[in-house]
Order: sequence, then structure tokens, then C-alpha cells
Amino acid sequence: MNALEPASNSVPRANAQSDAGGPAKPVRGARLQASGLRVSYDGVLALSDVSIVVEPGRIVALVGGNGNGKSTTLRAIAGLNRLDDGALVFDGQPIHTLPAHLRVPLGMSLVPEGRRLFPRHTVRRNLELGAYTRDDKDEVADSIAKMLDTFPILRERADQLAGTMSGGEQQMLAIARGLMAKPRLLMLDEPSWGIAPKFVTKVLDVIQQVNATGVSILLVEQNLHKALGIAHHGYVIQTGRIVMQGDAQALLHDEQVKKIYLGL
Ligand SMILES: Nc1ncnc2c1ncn2[C@@H]1O[C@H](COP(=O)(O)OP(=O)(O)O)[C@@H](O)[C@H]1O
Ligand SMILES: [Mg+2]
Repeated sequence: MNALEPASNSVPRANAQSDAGGPAKPVRGARLQASGLRVSYDGVLALSDVSIVVEPGRIVALVGGNGNGKSTTLRAIAGLNRLDDGALVFDGQPIHTLPAHLRVPLGMSLVPEGRRLFPRHTVRRNLELGAYTRDDKDEVADSIAKMLDTFPILRERADQLAGTMSGGEQQMLAIARGLMAKPRLLMLDEPSWGIAPKFVTKVLDVIQQVNATGVSILLVEQNLHKALGIAHHGYVIQTGRIVMQGDAQALLHDEQVKKIYLGL
């Protein structure tokens, strides 16, 4: 583990306080503590020892090259991969024995790798499906209206089939669908993957806007500049282990991180 200082007592950066794009109700961001996660696929170790903390209201980036265990980490937190070892504590509550569908109502939502929308359903229907674990069904229509306000591009396309939209538009929908669960921790798996550069900036802006309402964010990216550029704290994962962590800006300028990325 590199000796970069943890960012827990540093001053929040200005961009985390930026305009939320309207009078959004403040959310009490959740705290996530993942300790010593170990996960294997058919006996082959994918994560050997992953420990990550997301402090309430923070954006935490988990960066690393392809195949290093980023998605496995998010899936383990969401309950989609079984832990061989380790612990997950969400706002003080141990959750690692809960099935995935019981973790969502506690306030965690995963925007998965590759978006995983329902391409033959409309935008509106995809949003509705994002609320499947909510017990306040009467309020779902209000939430959809709010999402269409927040994402004007989705309002234009509300009755269009999701699969007919561009990659960037689909990513916006995937994030909006993730927000339909009313998360206090939003996890995003490579939201910039496969989308046009102008949409990458929009997606990063949206993540910051969501964070500005109070929601804690765990952002997984291969693109370290993009992810660390908007994060408060960062972790670097390599072959299933956290090899560095620290203040996001410090990591961004750290020579060791560059070497890891270049495979030196
Ligand atoms: N469903 C799976 N079955 C078997 N091996 C897998 C599966 N998913 C991922 N792996 C392996 O686990 C390791 C970590 O993968 P992954 O978490 O997807 O990495 P990343 O998201 O960083 O690209 C890789 O070696 C990958 O081949
Ligand atoms: Mg992945």
C-alpha cells in the first residue's frame, strides 16, 4: 500500500459543492466500508484483498486497467458476487449476508457495466423498472417526472425504445434508472465506456450533480484522468488488490500510478 495520506479530513473540493441543477432535496449520503473482500470465479481468485471506504457525500474513484477486478468489486458490494471472505458495512449495518434485492432498499444502487437496459422497452418503462424495489409505488410517477426534468434528453425520448438511442443517451438513462431506487450510495461501473467524448463530459457532470445533492458515489473507471478528475478520494486496483489509495488529485499526479498504468 502506498503511503499517500487518506483524504478523510481534507477540505471538500469546490466541484463537489457545485450547483445541483435545481432545488433538489438533500440526501443523507451513506457510508460504505468494504474490508478484505475476497472473490473467486470457479476457484480462480479475482479479488484477493480489497478494502474500500466511501465516506458520506464523497465521490470515490476505483481505477485500474481491464481485468483487474473493478466490476467484481462493485458486484460483490451489490450482492451479485459471493464473498469468499471479507465484510461489508453499510451505514453501520453488516450487509454481506443479505441478498442483492434486499441491499437496494437500504439505499444502494448499481449502474452496471454495459448499462444493461431493456432495449425493447421505452425510456419511461426502463425508469419504472428502476423503482422495482420501492414500496412507495404512488410516488414513482413523481420520480419519473423529476428524472425527465433532470435529464431533458430523456424527456424528448420518453416514449422511444431504449435500444434505439445513442450510447451516451443510453448511459444517461442507465444513471437515471439507477437513481429511481432513491439511492444514498450510487455505484457506477465504467459510465464513460463506449460513448462519444461530448457525452463523457455530460455524464461526469451528472455524477457531480447527483453528488451535490448528498448522494455518496463509488465510481469505477479505466480512464483514470476522468474518474480522479471529479473524485475526492481514489483507489488503484491491480490484479484483485488495492495497490494505492489517497487524495484523488494527489493520485492523479503520482508517478507510481502512471507506472502501474503503463504496466512498468
Ligand atoms: N463471470 C466470470 N467468470 C469467470 N471469470 C471472471 C468472470 N468475471 C470476471 N472474471 C475474471 O475476474 C477478473 C476480474 O474481472 P473484472 O472484475 O471484470 O475486471 P475489470 O472490471 O477490472 O475489468 C478477470 O481476470 C476476469 O477474467
Ligand atoms: Mg469491468
